[in-house]
Amino acid sequence: MSLPKINPLETTAWKRLSKHFTEIEHIHLSEFFAEKSDRAQALSISWEDFYLDYSKNRVNDKTMELLQNLAKEVGLTEAIKAQFSGSKINETEDRAVLHTALRDFDKMKPEVQETLEKMERFSENIINGSHLGYTGKPITDVVNIGIGGSHLGPCMVMEALQFYKNHLNVHFISNVDGDHVSEILKKVDPETTLFVIVSKTFTTQETLTNARTVRTWFCKASEEKHIEKHFVAVSTNLEAVASFGIASTNIFTMWDWVGGRFSLWSAVGLSICLGVGFQNFKAMLQGAHTMDIHFKETPLDKNIPVVLGLLSVWYNNFFKTESEAVIPYTEYLSKITSYLQQAVMESNGKQIDRNGNRVAYQTGTIVWGSTGTNAQHAFFQLMHQGTKLIPADFICFADSLYGDTDHQNKLLANCLAQTEALMEGTPEHNNPSAFRNFEGNRPTNTLVIKKLSPKNLGSLLAMYEHKLFVQGIIWNIYSYDQWGVELGKKVAIGTLKAIETESVEFLHNPSTQALLQKIVKNS
Ligand code: F6P
Repeated sequence: MSLPKINPLETTAWKRLSKHFTEIEHIHLSEFFAEKSDRAQALSISWEDFYLDYSKNRVNDKTMELLQNLAKEVGLTEAIKAQFSGSKINETEDRAVLHTALRDFDKMKPEVQETLEKMERFSENIINGSHLGYTGKPITDVVNIGIGGSHLGPCMVMEALQFYKNHLNVHFISNVDGDHVSEILKKVDPETTLFVIVSKTFTTQETLTNARTVRTWFCKASEEKHIEKHFVAVSTNLEAVASFGIASTNIFTMWDWVGGRFSLWSAVGLSICLGVGFQNFKAMLQGAHTMDIHFKETPLDKNIPVVLGLLSVWYNNFFKTESEAVIPYTEYLSKITSYLQQAVMESNGKQIDRNGNRVAYQTGTIVWGSTGTNAQHAFFQLMHQGTKLIPADFICFADSLYGDTDHQNKLLANCLAQTEALMEGTPEHNNPSAFRNFEGNRPTNTLVIKKLSPKNLGSLLAMYEHKLFVQGIIWNIYSYDQWGVELGKKVAIGTLKAIETESVEFLHNPSTQALLQKIVKNS
């Protein structure tokens, strides 16, 4: 089974959507509400602990019907089947895409099961103190060393699930910035620290440089033979890990059918297991799997990731919006936008379609945002009164975790009030001056989730994974490769040589040469 290769511009639905767009582009959201008394109910989806209200979008029944027709015409249903079947749908890398198989406990591959069991045993031994450091003390700190998908997922989840955290302090080193490495090392003690080196390929410059620096630091305090008690690795490249000096018993495997940005469900999530315990990690996997089933089995019009993906395409390709915002009303999700930036932008930032032709339409949404209410006091001015249309996802949790009603009421009130204000604006005659006028008509989705639990977090992340897949299918691009990150890495090899030898002849570009000269003079 391979992915369909249909140019969306050639579908009947796209043509009808283009015409339909000219008919409704100027209709105000309040008019849509006035036209249909049950709009709020009709344009909403209740599923498990989730309630998605997408009624504050610039769509009517016809828009949604045409968008669903588009999904059908480009073969979305077949594409979903192809992905879950394990076919090599990542054709440019000749790989299957099966991060969903990591969370399907009923049909789990034996090798996945084995790795999960190893993660469970290992994390329990660290947490309960039976795994001791080289001087006989229990482990108190964990340092995850990895970048991109080997960092963003675990780091975001550890922030999100802080409430469920145990006594271990989990730190993250990702950037090849030596100052940051030093800052982290200042906080930990070699006798009581476990280093988890995470790299799918085990060739990534940043991770290997950081891992070597940390190993040297550790060996200064201890001895090479103690590495075994303090270093573990997560990778597909077992040979490279072995040559780094990590014992095979300390390797947690992953597989090439797990893409980096979708890998937190694999052994890449080891730091999560350590920080919140295996049962919470498992609950997150189960939550993601529940969303997988919803995505696979629910008709398009009640399918949360499908509806979100279609709305995003509607704004990106018809309203020609430039970006979309994600605004979670909880500090726990303060890292979700960085995580989504890799997931969405590394996946869908493509200009060549699945037929090998350059696309004649916009792909890849730009995702950004930060937590409410902080964001209200920062960039919301532009969202309310700026010239750009920015569709936004507002995410809130009905119950807070510590149960402070006063704070929670205010947090929720702000979330709901903002989507209302963005939508309704103010009638012009009510305003003393144009400067105070709000046109409204700014679209939002509101996702109300009962509570921030590991399970619901898993469902939320899987929801965004499937949303980006829907978009990639419609845009007829390959969402699961990332060739675009390779060129910069190659160029950096020559640049590093030039910096190390202070010789500009390794550089061809006059601007880069001038920059290097400036750096050399100043250093
Ligand atoms: O440079 C991008 C990338 O390849 C990501 O896709 C990946 O998540 C990251 O680098 C890290 O790669 P690795 O896990 O192999 O070190």
